[in-house]
Amino acid sequence: MSSSEHISVTEACEFLGVSPDTFRRIVRDLNLPTVSDPTDARVKLYSRASILALRQRPLAIPTRHRVITLSNNKGGVSKTTSAISLAAEAAADGFKVLLIDSAPQASATVSLLDDPNWNLESDQGILLSWLKGDAPFQELIKPIRYRNYQLDLIPSSPKNDQIDRANPLEAVPALREFFESWHDSPYDYIFIDTDPSFGTLVSMAQVGSHFVICPVQADVLSVDGTIQLTRQLQRARNLTKSQFPSLLGFFLSRFDSRRRVCKEALDTLKAAYPDAVFESVIPDNVRLTESPGQKAPINLTAPDSKGAHAYKALWKEVRERVERAVAPNAASA
Ligand SMILES: Nc1ncnc2c1ncn2[C@@H]1O[C@H](COP(=O)(O)OP(=O)(O)OP(=O)(O)O)[C@@H](O)[C@H]1O
Ligand SMILES: [Mg+2]
Repeated sequence: MSSSEHISVTEACEFLGVSPDTFRRIVRDLNLPTVSDPTDARVKLYSRASILALRQRPLAIPTRHRVITLSNNKGGVSKTTSAISLAAEAAADGFKVLLIDSAPQASATVSLLDDPNWNLESDQGILLSWLKGDAPFQELIKPIRYRNYQLDLIPSSPKNDQIDRANPLEAVPALREFFESWHDSPYDYIFIDTDPSFGTLVSMAQVGSHFVICPVQADVLSVDGTIQLTRQLQRARNLTKSQFPSLLGFFLSRFDSRRRVCKEALDTLKAAYPDAVFESVIPDNVRLTESPGQKAPINLTAPDSKGAHAYKALWKEVRERVERAVAPNAASA
């Protein structure tokens, strides 16, 4: 039984967002003291203050890149729009950025790739061909050069759908294993766009990520649905036996401040996840709908639009959260 001073293993795992295995390893490594539960001496309790202090400990990422997946099981909540817009902001901010389109419907690819030689039905240059061993990872990357920055893209195709029918035991950890061993990666940030499902592809992206960002549509059902994502991330952490993937935050997309339901959704989200809601909200903005037709991100197609300003503000928060979460110099450690 936990008290105000002590907490149980289950509570500690939930609080830290780690699996029981990882928690046991942390306890062993840090030699954390325990006390016996007064109602059952076999149950061990931990000091609440020492667990709190652990959460303040920065995460260590041993590679240069930080991997961020945009994920939500609900469809049409702005995952693709946000993956493109955040990746573009990061690139405009001077970072070396890779955007991976993992969604078989390939919306990010169609929104960005203006290459007459690119065939959407091709299985070359997509995650599937890498998983099948037909192409090295680096060969999948297509650099897109804009006026003032470069965005590297790994395109998708409906053929990526076959990954979901592949052996999940092999496919799910594949990206994580690759990213962990990619010590000469040139990237600061890798963003992954996902489809709205519980499939192998989404698990592969989540398990391969350090952080997950979840866009939420401003309605009550969507807010209720966020619990599914937090469960998915806990399952992913059980697989990685680490603090990754960590939930970087939720934000409200297609927000209309004149509608009461939007404000209510924001309040509900903040009450449910006090530490995990971005202050920035993305307004409903027609420029964001038009951007894919112009084959470029919003910070180029309509830099003065409300949508572009909102994503700039969101990127600033994302960057600050990542920098706060990660130990300085972890990449060179
Ligand atoms: N803030 C916004 N204002 C106006 N239109 C938007 C906004 N965000 C997204 N859209 C439009 O809404 C549609 C759905 O957005 P998007 O494709 O980004 O969602 P998604 O979550 O990736 O969808 P899916 O689950 O199908 O992958 C697109 O037509 C997009 O252009
Ligand atoms: Mg999408």
